[in-house]
Amino acid sequence: MPRLKHAFKSAIDRGARSVRRRLLPFSDYDQTIPPEIVDDEFYEVIRSIASEAPVESMLEIGSSTGEGSTRAFVEGIHANARRPQLYCIELSRPRFKLLVERYRGDPQVHCYNVTSVPGDRLPTETELIDFYEKRESKLNRVPLNEVLRWLRQDTRYVSRLANQNGIRQIKEQNQIDRFGVVLIDGSEFTGSAELDEVYGADYILLDDIGTFKNGHNHERLIADPAYRLTASNPDLRNGYAVFKRLGQAAVEKGPTPAARL
Ligand SMILES: C[S@@+](CC[C@H](N)C(=O)[O-])C[C@H]1O[C@@H](n2cnc3c(N)ncnc32)[C@H](O)[C@@H]1O
Repeated sequence: MPRLKHAFKSAIDRGARSVRRRLLPFSDYDQTIPPEIVDDEFYEVIRSIASEAPVESMLEIGSSTGEGSTRAFVEGIHANARRPQLYCIELSRPRFKLLVERYRGDPQVHCYNVTSVPGDRLPTETELIDFYEKRESKLNRVPLNEVLRWLRQDTRYVSRLANQNGIRQIKEQNQIDRFGVVLIDGSEFTGSAELDEVYGADYILLDDIGTFKNGHNHERLIADPAYRLTASNPDLRNGYAVFKRLGQAAVEKGPTPAARL
């Protein structure tokens, strides 16, 4: 009899777990991931800009656990005579937890567990499918079903946060009108909305210019005469690019952006 009771209880538990999995599907954001921008060419570019840029504030969108691009920023700002402040944004709770632990006690680093932009700024599935099918990009290396799973997952995770706008929150709380340096390396789907929020920054650094994340942003900045492309490598992982705003565009005349690389 006790064995029967045990079998019955196990079946109920299994059923409950399966219903729970269907209602609350597992999210990649519940796990940490290895750092991506690590000791490579882009890492060095970030470190160099962070150490030399004559700015007061830097924003990193997509810090993860802080072992990749964050480390490049932190090494740079420590060497920068202006002692700029670094604001880090990370959505995933477990990743954020490690990020905070790593930089706790560093007065130049400020970490925010927020979504960079609200959920209603994510693309629709139709827009994403359109991009996937009409534009050849490095995203095509991933099956469409998997890319759609990512979008649904982002939508679910961010929808818990109502209309949170992390970038605006950081600007308001710290009286920042426009950031000095910004890295856009968050969700695959929020790059365009993030660029809208930080447009006008002195330096804009894009990772993944060969995918949905920063493909449009790359084209938008290339087309803007107020920005100059100063570094780029489309072949390093999904490609990266760095743009510098021409503060005195009228004075600083020169060749077209691509030719000045
Ligand atoms: C490509 S990873 C960042 C990699 C990191 N820069 C590095 O060098 O290791 C993108 C990060 O953005 C975070 N993310 C995704 N959606 C976000 C959102 N809406 N707001 C803020 N962060 C987000 C993810 O949790 C993930 O850790």
